[in-house]
Amino acid sequence: MRLPFVSIAAMAVALAAGSLLRADDGYRLWLRYDRVADESLRATYAAAFTEIALPAPTRPGFSLGSIEAARDELTTGLKGLLGVDLSTVSQPTRDGALLLGTAVRSPELAGLVSEADLRAASEEGYVIRPVIFAGKRCVLVLGNRDVGVLYGAFALLRHVQLHEPIAGLNLVSAPRIQRRLLNHWDNLNGFVERGYAGQSLWRWFELPDIVSPRYRDYARACASIGVNGTVLTNVNANALVLTPAYLQKVAALANVFRPYGIRVYLTARFSAPVEIGGLKTADPLDPAVKQWWTDKVAEIYRIIPGFGGFLVKANSEGQPGPQAYGRNHADGANMLADALVPYGGIVMWRAFVYDNNVPADRHTQGFSEFQPLDGQFRSNAIVQVKNGAIDFMPREPFHPLFGAMPQTPLALELQITQEYLGQSMQLAFLGPLFEEVLDADTFRPNAGSTIAKIVDGSVDLHGISVIAGVANIGDDRNWTGHPLAQANWYAYGRLAWDHQLTSAQIANEWTRLTFGNDSAVVQPITSMLLESHEAVVNYSMPLGLHHIMAEGHHYGPGPWVDQAGRADWTSVYYHRADANGVGFDRTKSGSNALAQYAPEIQNLWGNPATTPDNLLLWFHHLPWDYRMKSGRPLWDEIALHYQSGVDTVRTWQKAWATLNGKMDDERFTHVKQLLARQEHDARVWRDACLLYFQQFSKKPLPAGVEPPEHPLDFYKAQQIHFAPGHPGAH
Ligand code: GCU
Repeated sequence: MRLPFVSIAAMAVALAAGSLLRADDGYRLWLRYDRVADESLRATYAAAFTEIALPAPTRPGFSLGSIEAARDELTTGLKGLLGVDLSTVSQPTRDGALLLGTAVRSPELAGLVSEADLRAASEEGYVIRPVIFAGKRCVLVLGNRDVGVLYGAFALLRHVQLHEPIAGLNLVSAPRIQRRLLNHWDNLNGFVERGYAGQSLWRWFELPDIVSPRYRDYARACASIGVNGTVLTNVNANALVLTPAYLQKVAALANVFRPYGIRVYLTARFSAPVEIGGLKTADPLDPAVKQWWTDKVAEIYRIIPGFGGFLVKANSEGQPGPQAYGRNHADGANMLADALVPYGGIVMWRAFVYDNNVPADRHTQGFSEFQPLDGQFRSNAIVQVKNGAIDFMPREPFHPLFGAMPQTPLALELQITQEYLGQSMQLAFLGPLFEEVLDADTFRPNAGSTIAKIVDGSVDLHGISVIAGVANIGDDRNWTGHPLAQANWYAYGRLAWDHQLTSAQIANEWTRLTFGNDSAVVQPITSMLLESHEAVVNYSMPLGLHHIMAEGHHYGPGPWVDQAGRADWTSVYYHRADANGVGFDRTKSGSNALAQYAPEIQNLWGNPATTPDNLLLWFHHLPWDYRMKSGRPLWDEIALHYQSGVDTVRTWQKAWATLNGKMDDERFTHVKQLLARQEHDARVWRDACLLYFQQFSKKPLPAGVEPPEHPLDFYKAQQIHFAPGHPGAH
C-alpha cells in the first residue's frame, strides 16, 4: 500500500491530539527521533549532551566522511529527541561535549580508553564512555576507524530513543561478521523480483543526474543497523549494468553510500563477455574471457572506488554459467576472483543450483555439486548458501553444505522479503527464523559448530566472512509495504552485526524505536512479532511440510499443483501425499538426503521418534494414523496445527484493537486491515490444505477444527492475477 501523502485533515486532527498521535506514514522507520516526553529524563539527556566536539585529527588517514555523517545524525537526532541545537566545536568548551574521533587518526583520544577496549572495537566497532578531556566531562564516541564513530553515533541515539540511563554509559560493540549485505533482486526496469513493497528504489533512468534524497535515507537506515554492503541488482542478472553508462549510475549511488560505510556490489551475468563484450565465448578458462573480466574490473574500480565485488547466480534456473563450457563452479568463481583480488574485491558464488534433469532429490543437488569443490576456491571467492537446501521455505532444516565445506568461506543467504511467508500482506517477524538458522548446530567438526560460527569464520578460521539478506525494500512510502515488516529489515541487520542477540531482544528494541516506549503498546506488539513466524508456519506448512504454495507467485496454498513446467516446481513432488500417508522420505529408505548431514544429525533425524515435530514430514513419509509425541494421530495433529495458526492471528486482531488511540491512525488502521486480510488468508490456507489432504487421509477433522467454508474445487479455482513480485506476471 502506498501512503505518499498525509491528508491535511488527518494532520490537523493529529496535531490537535498532541505529538504522540502525529500522523505518520512510516517513512522514518526506526530512526524517528521523536521528542522524549518525560521532562526530567529529557533534562538529564540535555545536560549530558551539550555540544559536539570534533578535534582535528593529528595523523592523516583516509576519510570517507563517516564522521561528518555521524555528526549530522547526532545533530538531527538529538534535536528531535531533546529539542536542543548542538553546535560543533573543535575542542570541548563545556561539560557534556560529545567527543567524536578515531583511534587511528587521533591518538590523544585513543589514550582515553584501554587497549582492551580498542581491541574489542576492532575494525568497525566503537567505544562509548564518559571521559575527561581538555578539562571537561565528555562522552567519547571512539572508533578505530571513521565508520566505527558512525556506528557509535547510531548506538548512542538508539540508547536515548530507548530511554536508557545515561549514568554508567558504557557501550562497546563490534560486528562478528565482516560483510553484512543486503541483496536486492532489482531489475534495471524497476521491477523487484519477489519484491512486495513497490518498485525498485534505484531510479536508473534518472541516475546519475538526479540523486534522490531517499538514497541517503536508505544508507542511514542500513548504517544504523550495521549493514555495510548492498548488491544493487537481481541475481537473475542483466549484463547491461556492467556497461559504462550504467557504471556511472552505480557510481552516483556509491558516492551517497560511501560515508555510511556501505560498499556497492553488482551481480555479474556470466555471459556478459558475449552479451556486452562482443566475444564468442564466456568460457572461464579462455584467455580472452579472463582478460575481458580483468579489464572490466579495472574499469569498475576506476569509476567506483571501494567497489565490493560480484554476486553470481550461475547454472541455476536458466542462468548462464561455466558448465556450458564443461567447467565447474570453482573455475567460474576463480576467474572472477582473480580479476577482483588486486582491488580487495570478492566474488560471492551462489550454491542455489538444482536441475530438473537430474533424477536426485532436489534437496541433495546443491551439496552434490559444491561439496566436492571444497578447497578449490580462491580465498576471495565465497560460496553463498541459502539457509536451507530447497528455497526459503517457512521452515527448513539447515543446508547440509554448512557442515561440509571447511576449506571454503561460506556466506549465509537469508530471505528478508517474505516470498513464502505471506509477502507484504501478512505479519511474519523473521527474527526467530534467523535465530533458529544461526543457532543450528552442524556438528562439524564437533558439537557447537553452529551456522553462526561457521559463517563468522570462527570454526574454520577463514579471513573473510559474509552474510546476505534478500531485501524486502521498495519505493513504497513506508519502504516495506507492511508496516511491521520493517522489523525484518531491522532484525536482519542487528543479527548480522551480532548473532548472539536474541530475537526477543530485537523485537522489543524495534517496537520501542518504532512505536515508542509505552509498555501498553510495546508488550502486545512484541508478543505478536514473536508469535508470528510460527503462526504462519502453522497455517501454511506445519510439521515439516514444504513447497505446497501456489505456483509462480507463491502466494497462498497450492498443494494440488502437479504441473509447473518442471517436476521440482510442483507441490506433489514435495508432500507425496497418498492413501498410505504424507511426507518426503529423505532417510536411507528414501532419497537419503540425510546422509549429507553429520552422523549426530543422521541419528536424530533418521528416526521419526527423535526427529523434531517441526521437521517430521521433511524427512519422513508417515501414515495418517502415525502416533505423534502428543499421543494424537498425525492427521489430527496436522489439522490442529492449521487451526492453531488461524487462532493465533485472531488473538492479534484483539490485541491490536487495544492499541486504538495509542498510536497514529495511519499505522493503526493499515495494520488493522492487514490483520483482517491475514485472518482470511490463514483460513484459506487451512481449508484448502485440509480438504486436499483429506482426500487421501479419508479421516474427519478432529474436534476444535472449524469446518471449511467452501469445497476444495473452490480453492483450486482461485487465481491471482498480476501478483506483485512475480517475474512471470511482467
Ligand atoms: C527463488 C525465487 C526466484 C529467485 C530464486 C533465486 O526460486 O522464487 O525468484 O530467482 O529463488 O534465489 O535465485
